[in-house]
Amino acid sequence: MNTGPNVAVLIGSLRKESLSRKLAMALIAMEGLHLSLEIVEIGQLPHYNQDDDANPPSSVRDFKERIAAADGVLFVTPEYNRSVPGALKNAIDVGSRPYGKSVWDRKPGAVISVSPGALGAFGANHHLRQSMVFLNVPMMQQPEAYIGGAATLFDAKGALVNESTRAFLHKFLQAFAQWIERNAPR
Ligand SMILES: Cc1cc2nc3c(=O)[nH]c(=O)nc-3n(C[C@H](O)[C@H](O)[C@H](O)COP(=O)(O)O)c2cc1C
Repeated sequence: MNTGPNVAVLIGSLRKESLSRKLAMALIAMEGLHLSLEIVEIGQLPHYNQDDDANPPSSVRDFKERIAAADGVLFVTPEYNRSVPGALKNAIDVGSRPYGKSVWDRKPGAVISVSPGALGAFGANHHLRQSMVFLNVPMMQQPEAYIGGAATLFDAKGALVNESTRAFLHKFLQAFAQWIERNAPR
């Protein structure tokens, strides 16, 4: 079992057979990490509505509590129309309000973008960075993770079939563990 900073993993896709979810699950199954990864679901969140700021539903309160309790946040996301999928952008908006009470503030972050295509969801990766930088999240710059060709990465049980991808992702997570330690709010 991995121990270390506790990381909320947000998956940008809601579908059952999501490649992004498979990748997140493969990360969670990795051994020898100085991180503890746990998925925080976003599909139950209502569309953000500023009228609800004063009296948010329990799904929003629970989500915000879990993000607030995490030492870092890792986004594993596909790209929709060259940007961040709406469900994930909604979760970011939900966590950012009411004004002055954002749960993202100063929480170290990282993003792995995932696509069956060749470009590795570059557009989603960088649109996500734009929002998170505004929200005062120190986003890990290096290594970057644009995972293309994702439909061929997994076996029938969801394990990564490609050793070089596995090794890269392991290195990415170890770098993120160091990033969290260096950027933890003091
Ligand atoms: C609405 C929509 C828009 C999409 N736009 C892009 C895109 O801009 N770039 C891309 O690489 N793939 C795009 N795709 C294809 C997704 O990368 C592909 O469906 C992927 O498997 C979705 O991620 P998931 O497997 O985690 O659900 C799009 C898919 C949908 C449904």
